[in-house]
Amino acid sequence: MNTVPKEFQINNVINHNEYLIDGEICKWNGKQTQVFSTLLCDSDDKEPLLIGNTPEMSGDYALKALESAHSAFNYGQGVWPTMKVYERIKCMESFVIKMMTKREEIVKLLMWEIGKNLNDSRKEFDRTVDYINDTILEYKRIDRKGATFQNKSGVRALIRRGPLGVVLCLGPYNYPLNETFALLIPAIIMGNTTIFKPAKHGVLLIAPLLDAFNDSFPPGVVNIVFGRGREIATPIMKSGKIDVLALIGHSSSAISLQDLHPQKNRLRLVLGLEAKNPGIILKDADIDSTVKECISGTLSFNGQRCTALKILYVHEDIKEEFLSKFTKAVDELKLGLPWENTLLTPLPETSKPKYISDLIDNAIELGAKILNKNGGKKQKNFVFPAVLYPVTNDMNVYKEEQFGPVIPVISFKEITTPIKDMSESNYGQQVSIFGKDVDTLGPIIDSMVNLVCRVNLNSACQRGPDIYPFTGRKDSAVATLSVHDALRSFSIRTFVASKDNELNRNILRDMIDSKKSHFIRTDYYL
Ligand code: G3H
Repeated sequence: MNTVPKEFQINNVINHNEYLIDGEICKWNGKQTQVFSTLLCDSDDKEPLLIGNTPEMSGDYALKALESAHSAFNYGQGVWPTMKVYERIKCMESFVIKMMTKREEIVKLLMWEIGKNLNDSRKEFDRTVDYINDTILEYKRIDRKGATFQNKSGVRALIRRGPLGVVLCLGPYNYPLNETFALLIPAIIMGNTTIFKPAKHGVLLIAPLLDAFNDSFPPGVVNIVFGRGREIATPIMKSGKIDVLALIGHSSSAISLQDLHPQKNRLRLVLGLEAKNPGIILKDADIDSTVKECISGTLSFNGQRCTALKILYVHEDIKEEFLSKFTKAVDELKLGLPWENTLLTPLPETSKPKYISDLIDNAIELGAKILNKNGGKKQKNFVFPAVLYPVTNDMNVYKEEQFGPVIPVISFKEITTPIKDMSESNYGQQVSIFGKDVDTLGPIIDSMVNLVCRVNLNSACQRGPDIYPFTGRKDSAVATLSVHDALRSFSIRTFVASKDNELNRNILRDMIDSKKSHFIRTDYYL
């Protein structure tokens, strides 16, 4: 621990033994999962460090959490789904204030548990707080829009958005706070009730928020359980009582979870899945700025982002210049501990270094070369990024989403080469296209917008800003997330309609004046 600055040290193993079900933070006395950090195990003689324990809860407890969420929703009759929008917003405002007090604790755990550097860990926290505040504002806007009666063909209608029911929320390890909350928060505020199980890494950092959740929302609205994905999610899905599966992860997990649900038409899906976003470098690209964007695109957080550039296509005419500058820039990158704020940091998954090395070996066997001097150098918790060229479609690094530090490169003469690969790919999230000539770019953009859901011009792929839509085609996503779209994804339009006659007009007037309904009202919140 000598190398760890005092403020980031973890001096004792964190024994987290609590979970939240039905408005009660309960003690867990059963089996526990050990939480290890790979940060300090840079050589074979150093083992990952035990930094904590979390409950390894069983399927029975998963079902208790389900029961709690189910009775809090109570077929839409529960306190939360029928509560005034204004009151739900108040609960969320109270939550975010409490959450903000946990910033330093959570940032420290983000570094230890997933190896994210300090600046990015702080960014993840702050971005999440902004996301919650923006969600509140957006919900007020949506509610205002629903505060007016429409009258068409003699039918008067008040149209709003209502909750869907019980949401099972499963987030990813690379953004264990931000991406999970980008599902959980809109689901909660729209009046759904939730069961949330943290990702396989980034679990301890959820513990400091249990009180905030419990103090801010009525019992059963947020249930937080810990354990293995299969053990927890399987009985919950099999029950048929889940209305929305909200998951950021792998498409194979999403498919097996959906398959467990006995009434598939009842199940809504909000999924952010894998991607293989290409960076396409045309012959007139500005090389220096393209190199910069491709470095951050391929290697921010060691390439462990669903939006990372996972394959580069370089035009033959500029291949030499681009690759020489790019490989030099890769070799200059520093690997460090998160508080040193280097771009490269240790990988949290103990199996990842071997997986990345295997991808490199497989590519070499099939004819690729490592172009950069440091590429492929291995230590126990890391593999230095290898720029692999020429990559062909029989290599695993071409076929698989590497989600780590290795950069496959293909050269092309005609733009039809990357476009054909994108058309045949199982994924369709984003692309980055680097070039200047409008005559060339125009038709390429026109094709690509129909293959992916965001075309980044001379810029790396990314999710943010969070007000923009984040989605994908094919196996990359189901439903759209953004501050606004997420509120839509976790709700459904529902309305009250009446024949426009004296009787109904009087009833509606009376209802509005007497404030007897939380749904039929024409006031709104500022
Ligand atoms: O892992 C996928 C994330 O949504 C990527 O988000 O582009 O902001 O890093 P980001």
